[in-house]
Amino acid sequence: MKGLRSVGILGTGSYTPERVLSNFDLEKMVDTTDEWIVSRTGIRERRICSEEQASSDLAFEAAKRALKKANISAEQLDMIIVATVTPDMSFPSTACLLQDKLGATKAAAMDLSAACTGFLYGITTATQFIANGMYKYVLVVGVETLSKITNYKDRNTCVLFGDGSGAAVLGQVKDGYGFQSFELGADGSGGSLLCQPAGGSRIPASVESIENNLHYLSMAGGEVFKFAVRVMNSATEAVLSKAGVARDEIDLLVPHQANKRIIDSAVQRFGLSEEKVVINLDRYGNMSSASIPVALDEAIEAGRVKEGDNVILVGFGGGLTWGATLLKWCTTPAEGSDE
Ligand code: UT7
Repeated sequence: MKGLRSVGILGTGSYTPERVLSNFDLEKMVDTTDEWIVSRTGIRERRICSEEQASSDLAFEAAKRALKKANISAEQLDMIIVATVTPDMSFPSTACLLQDKLGATKAAAMDLSAACTGFLYGITTATQFIANGMYKYVLVVGVETLSKITNYKDRNTCVLFGDGSGAAVLGQVKDGYGFQSFELGADGSGGSLLCQPAGGSRIPASVESIENNLHYLSMAGGEVFKFAVRVMNSATEAVLSKAGVARDEIDLLVPHQANKRIIDSAVQRFGLSEEKVVINLDRYGNMSSASIPVALDEAIEAGRVKEGDNVILVGFGGGLTWGATLLKWCTTPAEGSDE
């Protein structure tokens, strides 16, 4: 971005709850099989939070780890953005609850609602504040406790989703590194394909809304699948072309973890070998806004990212929404940016 500061990810962190819900556990709950789930989605197990845990608790754990790796204290944060469709409550925002838990007293705080694309919308927003010099450090968290809005009697959805959180601290990096291009999009006409119908101002909570299961997540899986394949490829193409990077220069693709078959379509399209794609949905299922930051954090921990690598993050989901970014990887803060 010409005339603006270069912005990158200084540190990441992730947290997933201890409790594992396997496909074999689900076989005892609904009419499904491990074979069906693995062959249609690639998922083998997912993590489920405890009854006491809410999204801000998961976010807190991931945020602490990200701050530690970025070597930034909570007091240094200028802003906190939490992307979630499962906030602790409608308001105050989960970001405000997290701000208090962290003691990030200087930070502005807000939630952002873009479903599975939330983390990408969040880092794109955060980047603007740092690039123009208004803020130095912004914490972006993708967190979901989807188990709280999943109907464990509905085999169409309950095998897919899990709980978790991933966080990133964004700041100025050396010139030319960090985020090279962004692509965000939305098609509100597809909103009803993936939604939680009740609990807002359209259908407030009532005995009737609960009896009709309207507080649970609902999804037209097949329609969303076709949309996902289309936008994952087009958004990836868009960030490559905006950054002037060729397909064979991609070092790592970190896609939203909804379905292995969706990821495979992008892998084929871009001719990527296995080691260039991060996949962890077998262990976590679809954690919506947390999927990408958890996958990125695990890739970094596994030593799969090195300075100068072209890393693509790409996602899609409810809204409908989609987004992607291309980073020239660098976690070293820009010289003088600490002054
Ligand atoms: O993160 C947000 C974005 N979300 C996504 O990207 C999800 C996109 N969609 C998907 O991943 C897939 O559409 C699903 C995994 C949800 C479904 O896979 P599919 O291959 O599209 O299956 P289908 O919906 O066409 O269903 C095929 C059959 C149906 O039976 P009938 O009607 O043909 O008799 C379903 O009832 O599979 C049945 N089915 C199941 N069978 C066993 C659906 N869920 C299950 C299940 N176990 N858990």
